[in-house]
Amino acid sequence: MPEKVKKLYEGKAKVVYETEEPDKLLLYFKDTTTAFDGVKKAELKGKGSLNNTISSLIFEILHRYGIKTHYIQKLSDNEMLVWKAERFPVEVVVRNFAAGSVVKRLGFKEGQRFKEPLVEFFYKSDELHDPLICESHIELMELAPTETIPLMKETALKVNEILSGFFKEHGITLVDFKLEFGKLPDGSVGIVDEISPDSMRLWDSETGEKLDKDRFRFDLGDLLEGYREILKRIS
Ligand code: TMP
Ligand code: ASP
Repeated sequence: MPEKVKKLYEGKAKVVYETEEPDKLLLYFKDTTTAFDGVKKAELKGKGSLNNTISSLIFEILHRYGIKTHYIQKLSDNEMLVWKAERFPVEVVVRNFAAGSVVKRLGFKEGQRFKEPLVEFFYKSDELHDPLICESHIELMELAPTETIPLMKETALKVNEILSGFFKEHGITLVDFKLEFGKLPDGSVGIVDEISPDSMRLWDSETGEKLDKDRFRFDLGDLLEGYREILKRIS
């Protein structure tokens, strides 16, 4: 069983540890929940475990479809073993329906379905509050190797197809989600970070009830209840 050797980095939702093996890291999913760049914060007991479990399940589904990710295995309630990656400071967001920042930014009506999935890039920078960027910025600022831009986009759209279908079978609409990418030890580019209700919008297909982190962001209801409902339906 891989052990934590040294704390490398502590983020808002996870702690990253080195293991005895130099190319493998251990992620510890915290119960801390933050929104709006950490302005809103709470400890919600059990959230870390729910995100680790949901994220692991999603990574396993993606692997079955041949999508490359950093995921190796779930080690315990709150711990995941992953390949060490060189993370690109870019967030790739895919949207099927309008919600969140795209509503504020461009005036779409919340819940409006897009003709085609919309792919957006954001620059991961706390100081700049993760601004929207375009492909030219990624090239100019060398945020990721140029040849990986179409790959990130294609992968994100493929993940969207897989996960939209998967959630639909369980009565959940995948509204949008965020992915991060990095270079894995074997030199290939894969998905890193987590894919959880912290990084996706998931609405009950029948009632439209929001089951994801927007419950916490906008005080819409008990966050854990939403996450438990997602896990119950997909497992
Ligand atoms: P947005 O509508 O706020 O731009 O969010 C788009 C998607 O990205 C949504 O599913 C939530 C997710 N997301 C993150 O994973 N991390 C973040 O910091 C933010 C703001 C959004
Ligand atoms: N993840 C960001 C934060 O913790 C923003 C968000 O998810 O709303 O502040």
